[in-house]
Amino acid sequence: MFKARGLLISLEGIDGCGKSTQAEVLRGKLAEKDIDYTTVREPGGTVVGENIRQVLLDNRYSPSLQAEMFLYMAARSELTEQVIRPALLEGSIVICDRFTDSTLAYQGYGGGADLGLIRLLNRKATGGIAPDLTILFDLSVEEAAGRRGAKADRMESKDIRFHQRVRCGYLEIAHREAHRVVVVDAAASIEDQSKVVWQLVQELTARKLSVRSAYEF
Ligand SMILES: Nc1ncnc2c1ncn2[C@@H]1O[C@H](COP(=O)(O)OP(=O)(O)OP(=O)(O)O)[C@@H](O)[C@H]1O
Ligand SMILES: [Mg+2]
Repeated sequence: MFKARGLLISLEGIDGCGKSTQAEVLRGKLAEKDIDYTTVREPGGTVVGENIRQVLLDNRYSPSLQAEMFLYMAARSELTEQVIRPALLEGSIVICDRFTDSTLAYQGYGGGADLGLIRLLNRKATGGIAPDLTILFDLSVEEAAGRRGAKADRMESKDIRFHQRVRCGYLEIAHREAHRVVVVDAAASIEDQSKVVWQLVQELTARKLSVRSAYEF
């Protein structure tokens, strides 16, 4: 029997913009509707990935930009092969709290690493799996910092200009890849945003299913 491939949805945006909050609301909605879903966060989601996460977010360490980039890619490779690909093959809707665009935005636009190299490494790390939909929660750096509170991890403690470059980088990715990335105003209430997110997920599901019924069944 043919089994339709699932859908991959990534949630992106600067630290504190509300990604995890929206991931949780969306998870609840999918569960309520009895839709098969899988939620993952990056870096993490595997034994190796969670250990890499500890290293990356630890304020005691200061890996070079290149080492940092490779660590994120290693965690992504593990997550894709062990969790995301199998879940997609099972037909699950995979919600990824950060994915490939985070490395482009943080190490690329924020840190100055070569964007072409990051795109190449992303393709290698994911084996070519790309999100069907990316929701970018756009928020000012000041407002995001206010939401995060006092305790900051290593990435969050970088200066304000770094976070501004990351935000602009994300918006540029959205502009370049408008067919995949949708920008949501993260200054809106949790409830208003979750309505937009649910609308986007429904549209995506309808679109993909109609394409499948035309070509795959
Ligand atoms: N729309 C909103 N309005 C006001 N506060 C919000 C909103 N969305 C989330 N928050 C609050 O902002 C804080 C940060 O949200 P959240 O942890 O979801 O962000 P995040 O993007 O996952 O951050 P990080 O990148 O650090 O994981 C939380 O305390 C959350 O309750
Ligand atoms: Mg989060």
